[in-house]
Amino acid sequence: MGNPNKAMADKGIMRWVDERFPATQMWQEHLSKYYAPKNFNFWYFFGSLAMLVLVNQILTGIWLTMSYNPSAEGAFASVEYIMRDVEWGWLIRYLHSTGATAFFVVVYLHMFRGLLYGSYKAPRELVWIFGMAIYLALMAEAFMGYLLPWGQMSYWGAQVIISLFSAIPVIGPDLTQWVRGDFLISGITLNRFFALHVVALPIVILALVVLHIIALHEVGSNNPDGIDIKKKKDETGKPLDGIPFHPYYTVKDVVGVAVFLFVFAVVIFYFPEGGGYFLEKPNFEPANPLKTPDHIAPVWYFTPFYAILRAINFSVFGLDAKFLGVIFMGAAIAVLFVLPWLDRSAVRSIRYKGWISKVMLVLFAVSFIVLGVLGVLPTTDGRTVVAQLCTAVYFAFFLLMPIYTRLEKTKPVPERVTG
Ligand code: HEM
Repeated sequence: MGNPNKAMADKGIMRWVDERFPATQMWQEHLSKYYAPKNFNFWYFFGSLAMLVLVNQILTGIWLTMSYNPSAEGAFASVEYIMRDVEWGWLIRYLHSTGATAFFVVVYLHMFRGLLYGSYKAPRELVWIFGMAIYLALMAEAFMGYLLPWGQMSYWGAQVIISLFSAIPVIGPDLTQWVRGDFLISGITLNRFFALHVVALPIVILALVVLHIIALHEVGSNNPDGIDIKKKKDETGKPLDGIPFHPYYTVKDVVGVAVFLFVFAVVIFYFPEGGGYFLEKPNFEPANPLKTPDHIAPVWYFTPFYAILRAINFSVFGLDAKFLGVIFMGAAIAVLFVLPWLDRSAVRSIRYKGWISKVMLVLFAVSFIVLGVLGVLPTTDGRTVVAQLCTAVYFAFFLLMPIYTRLEKTKPVPERVTG
């Protein structure tokens, strides 16, 4: 018997690792032998970009935490200290605060791709549901992060949103107090939001992203034609319309990363506050529980749902308007979870769906954007009517889907992917 360590070295370091950990197997399964449809277009950049932004948020977040002080007395000043005195602190902070906006831009485009190509339909329902769980966790993460600078909008924004819980009958007031940990938003609320923002939710988001990818790789990626590439295989069992993810899509994704980093850098260096939309103006003033800002609006990525909340200014069945608004806002997000079961079309991609689906998707996208714009503006009677109309369109898109996707005539789907 020779020296076992020498024998291992002879077989190579990867062999040694593989006998103890499935590194090569995982590399092949998820990259070099993961066959992805060869017709991916630019809409397919946003998944890898979301991963890039997630890494950016985690790294810059760790560095911010090194200088941030999670107390009502010290939080605002510590952010100023990061901006003015910490070496490169301004860049780390802007990468993180503008990174939050970038995250939602990328994730909204990623979700819209899913709507376009029916990527939520069988067998990818769980990919979509894990995605929705990520989206929920991301909203909670962004909401809690926004309290941390302890500026006027941090404070009053949280005040408005947390007080929504009080609209819930019977348990509302106690629940609100439980969430805040105090009779009003205080350092206690700040402390718990800090713990959730820097530890609990990042772990949840990372775990969900792993589940999202495992579920996707189990069934394989969809594509702009929405057809199943596994149906046509060559004699070695490789899909005829598939190409290995690595090197083909790793290289292609680098192009998306380059374009993204260029745009991201322009925003960070020239418009880091996004004209008051990424970092709102009242947030440059320390939180003051005795002074309510003139106009309280959430950051842009929440405003479509905020506009839905405000659009419900009437009561039905004895439910008061505020509670009904909360129900509608919750339903606007909840309905996305059941989307895979609402779409009854025989085809996946919008390319082959009928005209009703196309019109409905355009109306939905327009109403979502209009709601987003209305959500940052103060209400007027006219704007409320528009918000009510857009809310109706938003829900019609989903609730009528089982009807119009079955009624309409679809186009024949090709056997093989088109260009
Ligand atoms: C941190 C957030 C997220 C990350 C890092 C992420 C990552 C990814 C990646 C890397 C892919 C494969 C590449 C691609 O198809 O673009 C993917 C696919 C997918 N994601 Fe996400 N995702 C996120 C959030 C979401 C959300 C919020 C949804 C929807 C609710 C979603 C739904 C999907 C669907 C349906 C697919 C399959 C698309 C297809 O095969 O056509 N993802 N995701």
